[in-house]
Amino acid sequence: MRIGTLLKTLFCVGIATAYPNFKDILPNGNEVPHPCKANYVWHGVGHNNPLGGGSRNQFGLDFKTAGLSWTPELCRKDSDGDGRTNGEELGDPECVWKTGSFPSRLSDITHPGVCTLSDGSICDADKGGVDCQVEDGLKNCNVLKEPETLNTTIRFPETAVPAEETTYSCMIFNLPSDKDYHLMAYEPNIDNEMVMHHIIIYGCDPNEDPVPDEQLNTVTKCGMSAGSNCNQMIGLWGVGRPGYCIDGPMGFRIGQGGFKQAALEFHWNNPQLKSNLKDSSGVTLYYTPKLRANDAGIMSTGQMNLEIPPGQQSYTVVGKCHSECSRKLIQAPINIFWAKNHMHYLGHEMNIKVYRDGVYYTELTNEVIYNYDSPVEKTYSTAVQVLPGDEIVTTCKFKSLSRPKTTFFGDATSDEMCFGFLAFYPVANMPFSTCTAWKDIPICNLWIQKEHNDCKWVDFMFRNVNETKRVRDEVMANCKPFGNCLSECKATLQILFAEHPCMKGDVYELIKDQSLKLDNKEMQAFIVAVDSCKAEMAADVYLRNLTNDNTSGADRLGGISLLLVSLIMYMMIK
Ligand SMILES: *[C@@H]1O[C@H](CO)[C@@H](O)[C@H](O)[C@H]1NC(C)=O
Ligand SMILES: *[C@@H]1O[C@H](CO)[C@@H](O)[C@H](O)[C@H]1NC(C)=O
Ligand SMILES: *[C@@H]1O[C@H](CO)[C@@H](O)[C@H](O)[C@H]1NC(C)=O
Ligand SMILES: *[C@@H]1O[C@H](CO)[C@@H](O)[C@H](O)[C@H]1NC(C)=O
Repeated sequence: MRIGTLLKTLFCVGIATAYPNFKDILPNGNEVPHPCKANYVWHGVGHNNPLGGGSRNQFGLDFKTAGLSWTPELCRKDSDGDGRTNGEELGDPECVWKTGSFPSRLSDITHPGVCTLSDGSICDADKGGVDCQVEDGLKNCNVLKEPETLNTTIRFPETAVPAEETTYSCMIFNLPSDKDYHLMAYEPNIDNEMVMHHIIIYGCDPNEDPVPDEQLNTVTKCGMSAGSNCNQMIGLWGVGRPGYCIDGPMGFRIGQGGFKQAALEFHWNNPQLKSNLKDSSGVTLYYTPKLRANDAGIMSTGQMNLEIPPGQQSYTVVGKCHSECSRKLIQAPINIFWAKNHMHYLGHEMNIKVYRDGVYYTELTNEVIYNYDSPVEKTYSTAVQVLPGDEIVTTCKFKSLSRPKTTFFGDATSDEMCFGFLAFYPVANMPFSTCTAWKDIPICNLWIQKEHNDCKWVDFMFRNVNETKRVRDEVMANCKPFGNCLSECKATLQILFAEHPCMKGDVYELIKDQSLKLDNKEMQAFIVAVDSCKAEMAADVYLRNLTNDNTSGADRLGGISLLLVSLIMYMMIK
């Protein structure tokens, strides 16, 4: 009895705080069937997640526009575009239903936010339908039915969940490495549903030193990535998802010739700051020695330079995988079979589009309402082919009303990111897996795109080639790091700024940024030396502009005197 009451209270609190119960204000709102599963109710009618919460489907968006109420306009609309109005789908074809009354029809209810054709077939996920294979869990996952398939379950040891709203915890573990396997599917084992929010599986770079044994299988607090060498996403689970199954001629290679270690990253959500919660969730990985024809990989696109000003309603950042990068990195057509947007908490909208020969070709993702806490994965029923030279344009929109200061690119929750993750095959056609930009400079993979506007910036930064050495020696001989701007430094820099392609505009800024990030001490000293005069020289130019008696200078002075005169007049009148 008491336990029953307690459970009921908990349940009600859960519903009230997490998902307001909108089902009662929609006709047959509690009876909307799951289009893929017989006898299953789709609880969150306005959401992509059948359990509710997270991103909204088109019906949810329209419902929101209608002020979260069942209006005649919303009723007459066909949100999912399948030829039946929302009213027809929900049993109120005349649009007369009012809360508390019976709808005119109680049977033949269909989902107003999932495009279902008259023959009962469901449209592709990218046309407003859902991917029933995903919705069905791993029941139809073919690899699980093959006799060769092996599985291993990795679990956190029982760990106390901190009394903090958001915690990221990571654990690195060994993968089977006696031979080569393809990782084909994974399934979550959720121990504590109250806190488990999402799980990411990262492969650790097999070309780096392995994580030593004593650091394995222990839980540590981490940021939004598991650590510098474990950052190749190979799996993702979010609330409401059943797991993931690759169904095609590809798999993620683990074992001898692939990832030998991986990290699990948990995001625990504890908004009520309870101090007695524990969790020992984990995942089951399914892998097979029956190798598929192709290795799969995940590439990243996006923008590496972020400076989001505070107080913005919506601040747009674009990162291009430029044609010239994509031509170098993608050596033959690749097939994209899965995609995921990635920003942190300021992100509110994101899309990734492909342009071919300068013309819009297709869209890889489009999340009109992005929410870090509800990761949305996009799986294509038919892989999207991307060709060498195609431009992949990632657009991120950030809302920074909550921030009093500029937000930069970085790992921490309070930093931001603008990355698209695209799973593709075969890896052989794209051996390097980043095609991001820094401002508008195509940096591709750092080690491939070495030049921009005649500046061989990778050489300039990393290699002591004669040219770099000459420039650096000259600056260090004439300028004083952290000191005053010396006249001989100014003279040296005047020539360098005018002549050297690496000392101009964004490329110099990129070199500066990377020297700081990569902790390149020699370059940092050089930059501090250059910057001892940079501000003063900019001021010099500005002052020279003002005082120069040429047309534009005179105009400007004229403008300023006019302004002063008006100001004095205004003050006199007041
Ligand atoms: C996982 O592997 C074990 C044998 O190691 C097997 O008994 C079990 O059925 C497998 N589980 C699934 C879901 O395939
Ligand atoms: C670099 O300088 C050294 C000596 O100053 C010279 O022998 C060498 O040929 C130069 N290398 C290049 C690539 O110019
Ligand atoms: C100086 O004047 C030129 C020409 O009017 C202008 O293009 C330039 O931006 C000015 N520079 C500064 C630092 O104000
Ligand atoms: C004015 O003088 C500055 C400084 O010498 C020069 O850079 C600029 O081009 C001149 N502007 C015009 C319009 O001649």
